[in-house]
Amino acid sequence: MGTINIEEDKSSLYILFDNIRWEEKSLIEKAKEMECDLKTIDCKDLVLFLNEDSNGFKDSIVLQRCVSYFRSLHSTAGLEGLGAKMINSLYTAFMCGNKLISHIELQKNDIQTPNAMCAFTSESSLNGLEKFGYPAVIKPTVGSWGRLIGLLTDKEAAKIVLEDREHMFPIYHISYFEEFIKRPPRDIRAIVVGEEVVAAIYRYSGDSEWKTNMALGGHALPCPITKEIEDICIKSAKIFKGDIVGVDLMESEKYGLVVHEVNNTTEFKNTVKVTGVDIPELIINYMKNMLKK
Ligand SMILES: Nc1ncnc2c1ncn2[C@@H]1O[C@H](COP(=O)(O)OP(=O)(O)O)[C@@H](O)[C@H]1O
Ligand SMILES: [Mg+2]
Repeated sequence: MGTINIEEDKSSLYILFDNIRWEEKSLIEKAKEMECDLKTIDCKDLVLFLNEDSNGFKDSIVLQRCVSYFRSLHSTAGLEGLGAKMINSLYTAFMCGNKLISHIELQKNDIQTPNAMCAFTSESSLNGLEKFGYPAVIKPTVGSWGRLIGLLTDKEAAKIVLEDREHMFPIYHISYFEEFIKRPPRDIRAIVVGEEVVAAIYRYSGDSEWKTNMALGGHALPCPITKEIEDICIKSAKIFKGDIVGVDLMESEKYGLVVHEVNNTTEFKNTVKVTGVDIPELIINYMKNMLKK
């Protein structure tokens, strides 16, 4: 593992990662079990000569599983440039990877989203928030696992959070806010593979935590895939041309189902554990079918 073979045969299946989580391990094991030749690439070892396809990536199918946002986006770009079919594509990665951009795209395509606002300095953010109202949720445009997402209860809270961010990497100077959605203490994570919602879970927030991310101690229960969930998730995946995505939804008291995020490198450990749906097998089959096209 971790080495890149110079491929004699074109059109191979690859999994590209920078960390082996439960998801990557289960995909690699499942491929073995299915006698499918899934080649592994550790992105930390990857060198791409962008003007020549020396590794024969053209027409290969590459499942992008890097945890690092920047590594993921840029390795997707490099490999897609060499002719690999990426799951997910650069378009999907770019659009989904940024919460402000994906919000705009969902909104344009009539998917219900939380009301949102953006601003580009602390001062204009504070001015905007006077009109937008509190409580407001501040989110980094790029991020995951609920990190740096804060609930701003009033102007004083907003001031200090915004001041902190002035000392951070410039991407955190882009302020993106959402209205706080009144909902049960849970959200929904639905996994879409191709044109199908294959499984969904409710994610309940952990003790004294309002965010429902599993990484923050949330727990999961199966969620029935209603026609409404199915329709909104398939439509959301299509907007971003996603092959395999995890759609995050909330059950708003005011709006009904709202989509707050579409994950282009989705985790699915808890979804498999709770629903029993063999997502690794579905993904490997999806890759094999893509190769045939
Ligand atoms: N506008 C909102 N109102 C209420 N809760 C929210 C809102 N946005 C996010 N959350 C909660 O915070 C969690 C993390 O938000 P999300 O946008 O999915 O970011 P991440 O990429 O870090 O998972 C969600 O799963 C949900 O529980
Ligand atoms: Mg999320």
